[in-house]
Amino acid sequence: MRQLRIPFWLGLLIAPMVLAQNLNYQQDPAWRVPAEAAEKKNPLAEQPELAAGGKKLFTRNCVECHGKSGEGLKKAADLRLPVVQAQSDGALFWKITNGNPDRGMPSFSRLPELQRWQIVLYLRQLSVK
Ligand code: HEC
Repeated sequence: MRQLRIPFWLGLLIAPMVLAQNLNYQQDPAWRVPAEAAEKKNPLAEQPELAAGGKKLFTRNCVECHGKSGEGLKKAADLRLPVVQAQSDGALFWKITNGNPDRGMPSFSRLPELQRWQIVLYLRQLSVK
């Protein structure tokens, strides 16, 4: 039994986007961040120098899917895109913590909390080029 029924015309519209190797990253509308989590402030916001450590953590844990510049390989999100950068620090932290395993984003709750915030600091630098 199929769970998801997509009208044929919509399939025609979506297929090229999916096949285009993430040039058109589409966010999962079902991956919603609880409001309370989105409001959390980054406790390291006043220590931008810690982003360097965030970069190391990113290289170790994230580059294999998101690419060296965060551009997103295969189906992984391009983390430089406005749809990603427009989200609050708390929202990104929550997504990194919980992941979206059904769509290939693992949970990183095993990393210490401050390391996850450090990664968020670094993600903010990806948009600046
Ligand atoms: C095994 C591959 C994989 C790894 C490793 C991975 N990601 Fe992801 N990530 C994904 C995929 C795939 C998505 C898109 C999920 C979706 O479509 O909902 C994603 C989505 C995201 C998003 C949400 C983008 C949005 O649209 O809001 C963030 C933020 C993110 N990843 C950060 C990270 C960080 C930081 C790391 C390392 C700590 C990491 N990811 C490691 C595959 C990965």
